[in-house]
Amino acid sequence: MTEQKFIPALGYDFLSEYYDLTIKLTMPEKKFRSRLIDFVNPLSGESILEFGFGTAQNLILLKERKPEALVQGVDIDPKIKSIAEYKLRKHSLEVPLHLYDGKTLPFADNSFDKVFSSLVFHQLDAENKLTCLKELYRVLKPDGMLIIGDWGKAKSKWMRFSFYAVQLLDGFKTTNDNVNGLMPQFISDAGFQDVEEEDFINTLIGTYSYYTAIKSEQ
Ligand SMILES: C[S@@+](CC[C@H](N)C(=O)[O-])C[C@H]1O[C@@H](n2cnc3c(N)ncnc32)[C@H](O)[C@@H]1O
Repeated sequence: MTEQKFIPALGYDFLSEYYDLTIKLTMPEKKFRSRLIDFVNPLSGESILEFGFGTAQNLILLKERKPEALVQGVDIDPKIKSIAEYKLRKHSLEVPLHLYDGKTLPFADNSFDKVFSSLVFHQLDAENKLTCLKELYRVLKPDGMLIIGDWGKAKSKWMRFSFYAVQLLDGFKTTNDNVNGLMPQFISDAGFQDVEEEDFINTLIGTYSYYTAIKSEQ
């Protein structure tokens, strides 16, 4: 299933089980995740996809906020999927989780009202950023909404400096586009419209930005 190489949640496979602890220690977790779900604004009956669900922290938060939302997740890493499944069981939540090959998402065109993603695109090189955004565009319904939270343009010199911690772990090739503020350009190059950086949070390790965009009715 996973033919394509990918960067695991914390840069190295053996660190994946420490992902939740690392996020707790380095980021204002409640604040950045809760704001992300504010932007997703899940409604009853809406079909919503999380791209790169990781350890399922966002899926748990979303389901607890709006149990009637029809949410699913897709990721590339079988190990992280096992961690996510275990946590969802512990919370007695049923959320379909899928794996894919990093190229074609296992969903038909126009399947979802909303797709969202957090801390995934800084792990993709330029070619994969665009490929994945085009896939998200394909599976969104017309008028559907994209919501991305990820490392964005550093809002101060200190934010730029502290982001080197992330770059040392995840590599410079995939993260430079983020810190140079190029995410909006990638999103619009994939076909989306009304691309906005809606908000940002400065953390210990860099500026986390929220982007939204629309797949316009064709
Ligand atoms: C840093 S973790 C973020 C997890 C979670 N979204 C969060 O907010 O904590 C990045 C996740 O993206 C996944 N990922 C990496 N490359 C991917 C790709 N090409 N397609 C889908 N998921 C990918 C990783 O397996 C990992 O679960």
